[in-house]
Amino acid sequence: MTPLLEIKSACRYFGGLHAVEDFSGHVKRGERVGLIGPNGAGKTTLFNLITCFTPLSSGAVFFDDTDISSLKAYRVARLGIARTFQNLRVMPNLSVFDNVSIGALGALGHSPFAALTKRANYANDIGRRTWDALEQTGLQDQASELAANLSYGKRKYLEIARALALSPRLLILDEPAAGLNDTETAQLAEFVLRLSGEGLSILLVEHDMNFVMSLCERVMVMASGRKIADGSPQEVSNDPVVLEAYLGSEEEAA
Ligand SMILES: Nc1ncnc2c1ncn2[C@@H]1O[C@H](COP(=O)(O)OP(=O)(O)OP(=O)(O)O)[C@@H](O)[C@H]1O
Ligand SMILES: [Mg+2]
Repeated sequence: MTPLLEIKSACRYFGGLHAVEDFSGHVKRGERVGLIGPNGAGKTTLFNLITCFTPLSSGAVFFDDTDISSLKAYRVARLGIARTFQNLRVMPNLSVFDNVSIGALGALGHSPFAALTKRANYANDIGRRTWDALEQTGLQDQASELAANLSYGKRKYLEIARALALSPRLLILDEPAAGLNDTETAQLAEFVLRLSGEGLSILLVEHDMNFVMSLCERVMVMASGRKIADGSPQEVSNDPVVLEAYLGSEEEAA
């Protein structure tokens, strides 16, 4: 069976900067995959390529055997890839419910503008998807709160709720544990594991190595835009090329 997500020789250049260079990789159905690498390695850019927030310079991305390389971002979301952002994109002046319903609107496959104008036609479907996502993330009691009033930790779940409201098959998380304390990070790991147990495939970037190594079945490592390793947590953490990439980047930073 072909993988759920397949990235083939993806490249993304910003002028002369090779942010992503000839990256190939995959996520199988139901798999939990981590993507790690030093700051500036190209991880977020790769996520932007997969979700079509940024166009590829060359290469291709396949999702469930469909070439999604040149689709609009909202069509990719509709096909079943949902994501969260490294810098939270919660709308502070909207209620928790309305923030999540934006994700549910996305599931209907309209452009954001068409989705808003046709919202009334789909109110029941949007409401059901939104409540399901709020319940999954434990935010149902705060549905009518302004997002601005949520704690930072809860806002991270709000981002995930918005992604889940799309009923995705692949959930892409960009640094979900950043800014969380140890207890919150452990709870998040349990939560992601539960989602995975329900059949969702997961691809995540995270700098917290304990989180990645305990949660992910496979880890891909990126440095300077390229994939430098791909294997079990144990394999990559003992790989001299990976250790060198991290040590090298610390020396540069010093
Ligand atoms: N829109 C853009 N225009 C120009 N350069 C960009 C753009 N987006 C990213 N870059 C550059 O591409 C490189 C990779 O950035 P990216 O954000 O993908 O790294 P990252 O691995 O996610 O890093 P971090 O761990 O710090 O989040 C960096 O040098 C960054 O400055
Ligand atoms: Mg990043």
